[in-house]
Amino acid sequence: MTTQQRLVETLRSKGVLLPDWEEAVASVDRGLFIPSAIEEADFAADPESWLLAVYADAPVVTQVNDGESTPEGAFRLSTSSSSMPSIMLEMLSLLDVRAGQRVLEIGTGTGYNAAWLSHRLGESNVTSVEVDAAVLSSARENLKRAGFHPTTVLANGRAGHGECAPYDRIICTCTVRDVPREWLAQCPNGRIVTPWGSSFFSGSYATLDVVDGKAQGTFSGYPAFMWDRTQRAGAGRIAEVCRPAEGEKSSTDIAPQNVIQDDPAFFTGLSVTDAWYRWCDANDDSGEATLWFVSDDRESWATVEYAPHLDTYEVEQYGPRTLWNEVRSAFLRWHELGKPERARYGLSVDGDGQRVWLDDPHHVMSHE
Ligand SMILES: C[S@@+](CC[C@H](N)C(=O)[O-])C[C@H]1O[C@@H](n2cnc3c(N)ncnc32)[C@H](O)[C@@H]1O
Repeated sequence: MTTQQRLVETLRSKGVLLPDWEEAVASVDRGLFIPSAIEEADFAADPESWLLAVYADAPVVTQVNDGESTPEGAFRLSTSSSSMPSIMLEMLSLLDVRAGQRVLEIGTGTGYNAAWLSHRLGESNVTSVEVDAAVLSSARENLKRAGFHPTTVLANGRAGHGECAPYDRIICTCTVRDVPREWLAQCPNGRIVTPWGSSFFSGSYATLDVVDGKAQGTFSGYPAFMWDRTQRAGAGRIAEVCRPAEGEKSSTDIAPQNVIQDDPAFFTGLSVTDAWYRWCDANDDSGEATLWFVSDDRESWATVEYAPHLDTYEVEQYGPRTLWNEVRSAFLRWHELGKPERARYGLSVDGDGQRVWLDDPHHVMSHE
């Protein structure tokens, strides 16, 4: 069995290999898209580990920190990758693309997804936009080696690519905070699939059907894509991004782990859009932990100290914003609404902006 067949078998045994995509997955060698030195390893000395990384159902990070040289020990933000093949298939399933349709991809990355699309639809039906020149240049080489020549464009994908429009489908492989109006104009009757969210909660696909330039759709999945570079959330090690200072102390009877469950976190992320959280377990077996909240601008932070068997938790807040109060308000509002799960929300995008609604497009929860 070839190594690519091993990947196919892995995907088949997971039950994620879609019949429509099987031929593309089997025919396009992922090895042509993954360099021999990737972020975690230089495979020159150990080619077997390269095979294991490339032909596994796992993402492969191909760039960190936008390709800037990163000193030893510095925080490494993943900025380009070959996505996990089963996640690629999940997105393509949502995309529901048909033979002969024209597709715009945002985020060329390694070019592997563009190659699958080109195999299935024909390269003349595929356009892929990448914002990073070095990443795009490698992707073009990779695609050429694999025998595909889709249109590839160096640009900010938020503008789409008007020259090849209209498209039947747009697939975005980085996370966006909002769906650009340009995409609606370039895909006026079709479907858009993109990882979507805010700094607080970005783990949703938005799948939007566009009719006459107006989009409406739903949220699903738990994608963990890197951010659209032009809309990034804050990130980093807590010790490096939080100013060491005394904050204002208080307490709460809300167990901190409850506010970061997916459904309340999704709702909180609609109003607390520019702050993120991190759960940090204590370095011992006490079971204690600290839940940190940090604003994207690093000016404000808050902590809630968790300890098992307690029913009141210490809170500390620092900076111009009182982040715990913001999160707490959203959490209480979510309870008042009857703790709606994410599947009950929808997203509408048109000339009037982007609206997230609950159950009914008139019951608007956030409007940008
Ligand atoms: C997860 S990787 C894409 C994986 C890719 N589709 C593949 O098959 O290898 C996300 C990519 O989106 C690119 N990106 C981020 N923001 C972008 C933007 N505003 N416009 C275009 N590309 C962007 C990143 O540089 C990165 O290469």
